Amino acid sequence: MFKVIIVENYEELSKAAFEVMKDYLKPGKVLGLATGSSPVGLYKNMIKDHIQNKTSYKDIITFNLDEYVGLPKDHKESYYTFMHEQLFNHVDIKEENIHIPSGLGDLEANCKAYDEAIEKCPVDIQLLGIGSNGHIGFNEPGTPFTLGTHVTDLKESTRKDNARFFDPLGEEVPYQACTMGLATIMKAKNILLVANGENKAKAVKGMLEGEVSEDLPASILQNHPNVTVVIDKAASTLLEKKY
Ligand code: F6R
Repeated sequence: MFKVIIVENYEELSKAAFEVMKDYLKPGKVLGLATGSSPVGLYKNMIKDHIQNKTSYKDIITFNLDEYVGLPKDHKESYYTFMHEQLFNHVDIKEENIHIPSGLGDLEANCKAYDEAIEKCPVDIQLLGIGSNGHIGFNEPGTPFTLGTHVTDLKESTRKDNARFFDPLGEEVPYQACTMGLATIMKAKNILLVANGENKAKAVKGMLEGEVSEDLPASILQNHPNVTVVIDKAASTLLEKKY
């Protein structure tokens, strides 16, 4: 079941997403979080709310969607670094309450342990962005809906999308990532997906109005009971139904 909120621009999108998220910024809640450019404005609103309204993250637990394979935590482009720079360093969350998949060491064991940790601590709200090819997390087109957290090869299109961050470092985009699977994501009690810009319009259309198919991983969300989708006008241009 989708609730679709269409707003004018990215600033409004970030505010509308915060309005949904703020109900979960309470002691004991478990947040599933995402990296990428889409949630950055929401994170800014969360930081502002922490500073102005003293909303505390001391008893909030987080699980991130994914991490590149092969990057140490302190790598400039690791998702560990991204999350600390964009959110965690600016709120009072406890480091031991932060979970981000590890892309180093025994990857299979890490993925299994990650799913076990989520099983014990079910996610109240999972934040998602969407790739221009319809991926969520790093579940690329063709990923079986049944997978839990796993290691995956990144599609060339995704590596290209992310090259803008690695090129200035003179480094290659990693070839693999460790990601929550679609079965893991679907276990979240609520889902909040944010998408902005024209290059997301096709994926958004497929997710909301296409058939449920592994060719467009986000279409699985049609089977979830509680999904809020916040998009800007540009990402909504191909939609045919009224929302
Ligand atoms: C991020 C993630 C990805 C992104 C997606 C959109 O943790 O799992 O699925 O949400 O690639 O990225 P942006 O927001 O940069 O367009």
